[in-house]
Amino acid sequence: MIPIARPLIGDDEINAVTAVLKSGILAQGKKVEEFEEAFARFTGTKYAVAVNSGTAALHIAVLSHGIGQGDQVITSAFTFIASANSILFTGARPVLADIEEDTFNVVPDNIAEKITPRTKAIMPVHLYGQPCDMKRIMKMAQEHGLIIVEDACQAHGAEYEGKKAGSFGTGCFSFYPTKNMTTGEGGMITTDDEYIARKARMIRTHGQKERYFHEILGYNHRMTDIAAAIGLCQLGKLEDSNNKRIKNAGFLTERLNGIKGLVPPRLGSNVKHVFHQYTVRVTQDFATSRDELRKKLLDKGIGTEVYYPLPVHRQALYQSLGYTDHLPNSEKAAGEVLSLPVHPSLTKEDLEHVVRAIQDI
Ligand SMILES: Cc1ncc(COP(=O)(O)O)c(C=O)c1O
Repeated sequence: MIPIARPLIGDDEINAVTAVLKSGILAQGKKVEEFEEAFARFTGTKYAVAVNSGTAALHIAVLSHGIGQGDQVITSAFTFIASANSILFTGARPVLADIEEDTFNVVPDNIAEKITPRTKAIMPVHLYGQPCDMKRIMKMAQEHGLIIVEDACQAHGAEYEGKKAGSFGTGCFSFYPTKNMTTGEGGMITTDDEYIARKARMIRTHGQKERYFHEILGYNHRMTDIAAAIGLCQLGKLEDSNNKRIKNAGFLTERLNGIKGLVPPRLGSNVKHVFHQYTVRVTQDFATSRDELRKKLLDKGIGTEVYYPLPVHRQALYQSLGYTDHLPNSEKAAGEVLSLPVHPSLTKEDLEHVVRAIQDI
């Protein structure tokens, strides 16, 4: 079976975890600090704040900017639910913008159309590992005085014009096992703003600046040293594993190009796409439906996934909240996208098998 994702866990991680377990300091200790420093260096930001999930990173980032009841934050309609939900958690309203048909990332003009006096922030989602059009988004944010909270949960090491995803505004990362690097569960907030870093650290630990003195409402969103030790090993391998993903994606695109009704991913300009996912479109011109193709590939031992079968505004939760948007590109993508294995453990034979299986179908 060729799985859609496989975390790269080796002896380094196992030994690092064992050392933490033997040390007796299991949570929010030196390893967490070390991981934060290394991640900030990697992203090119002054600060990094480790938390226990990407969802927590987004939630804390939005809260740290003082966003809440009565405010609006514009994000993508075609993303994992956590992007929009992190805004909902704070009492603010997620306003959903449509995506570009070819990159699956939010359309800057569609963001512009949705800015109101209540808009406080834009949350671009660098979907599948490809950065959004940050030049236009940053310009828009400057013109309207808006905050940028980047959902870089799928974009560790991705770049726009040579600048790392997560370094344009307040960056949020996930270390869930399927991601380009993992800590089991975990997340990180990156920022150049000392105030935001300080506030995020407070919210992470029950709003305390000093032990047991609580100034604001916070949560327990701390990372364990066990997770941080894994994260440090994973960060050391990230560049190499991203390069393998990029190479695998190049191979797939070269071989899948020209198959009727199957559209390989397209790169935007000035981006380094790190292929968290290699996502094709299966259109009506393909030999089978998208879901039939999935089944046939599974029969041939190839795992695939649909990220995501329903855009945010069509989810039952958002319907119950009264969202009536019609966002044609997001809705179309939900019916057509299919992610194929691209992870760094794939062998040449695995990749050949995926290509041949699709060609045969
Ligand atoms: C785009 C996006 N945003 C947010 C998240 C939330 O991250 P986590 O699962 O670590 O909470 C994820 C991860 O699944 C994601 O892919």
